[in-house]
Parts: sequence; C-alpha cells; structure tokens
Amino acid sequence: MYDFKPDPALDAAEIHRQLVEAADALTADEPDGVANMANVAALIWEFLPDLNWAGFYRAAPTRDGADSELVLGPFVGRPACIRIPFGVGVCGAAAQSRAAQLVPDVHAFPGHIACDAASRSELVVPVLRDGAVIAVIDLDRPRPARFTEADAAGIEALAALLAPRI
Ligand code: SME
Repeated sequence: MYDFKPDPALDAAEIHRQLVEAADALTADEPDGVANMANVAALIWEFLPDLNWAGFYRAAPTRDGADSELVLGPFVGRPACIRIPFGVGVCGAAAQSRAAQLVPDVHAFPGHIACDAASRSELVVPVLRDGAVIAVIDLDRPRPARFTEADAAGIEALAALLAPRI
C-alpha cells in the first residue's frame, strides 16, 4: 500500500516539493509510462486540494497518421474529450507554445474545451523531451483563479521529472 498524505497546512511550494518526491519514488524503477502516468495522476489528486480533473494528454498520431495531436491519457475525474489538436483549447495552447498555461477563468479563454462543465480555472503544463512536447499535464479546479505561479512551478518540476519516465 502507498500512503502519501501531505499536511494540508503546508504552503504550496512545500506541497509541490513533496509531490515531486513522491512521484520520484513511485516512478523511478518502473519503465511502463502508462503505469507511471496513472500513478502520478492519482498522486496529484491526493496532494492538491479542490481538483475536479487531473491527468495527462499524450502527443500521439492523428487517426490518419499524418500528424500529431493530443490524445487522452491516464487521469482522475469525469470522462473527457479524447483528441485535441495542437493549438486548440488550453491543452492545445500549452502543446503548441511549449509553455505552461495558467488560466484564471476558463470561460474567458478563447477556444477553451469544456470537458467538465464544473471546471472554472485550469493549469496545463507541457512535458518536454529533447525540446519536443510528448504530453501535457492538465489540472482543473471548479472555482476561478485557483491556480498560482507556485502551482505552475511545481507542476513544471513534476513534468521535468516525468519526461524520461512516461
Ligand atoms: N479544458 C481543456 C480540455 C481538457 S479537459 O479540461 C479535461 C482544454 O481546453 O484544452
């Protein structure tokens, strides 16, 4: 049994440090990327309060194989849209720009894709390997302005850890 329960009184930077430490311990010896994404989605869910969705989209071939797009990966939350083109929605913006997208109000984000109508704020961080996007980590909260720069920095550290392991 794994039991990673952070103290909710800790500040965001310390919670993220512990999240990365726990993710490192869970994924270090496991070569299967799907298993690692599944466990890390569950870890994020345990460590960060008030999420309504947390998980991965992977860069994968389009149905016709001619291009790449984001395809749903392991997550915790309600069933979600499966395929997202690069450049579309918050996830697609993170993938195309290769930069974190911290969105205080998803209703004000042009092209936001509403997979879960409860989502109000969103943080999407690209996972880069050798400079290329291999996945994004997508987090949603049901209240506006609920992600901070500390959350973005923490999830970027998590993405860097996971890049060779997913
Ligand atoms: N809202 C995302 C789509 C994914 S769901 O939030 C799980 C977007 O605009 O890309």
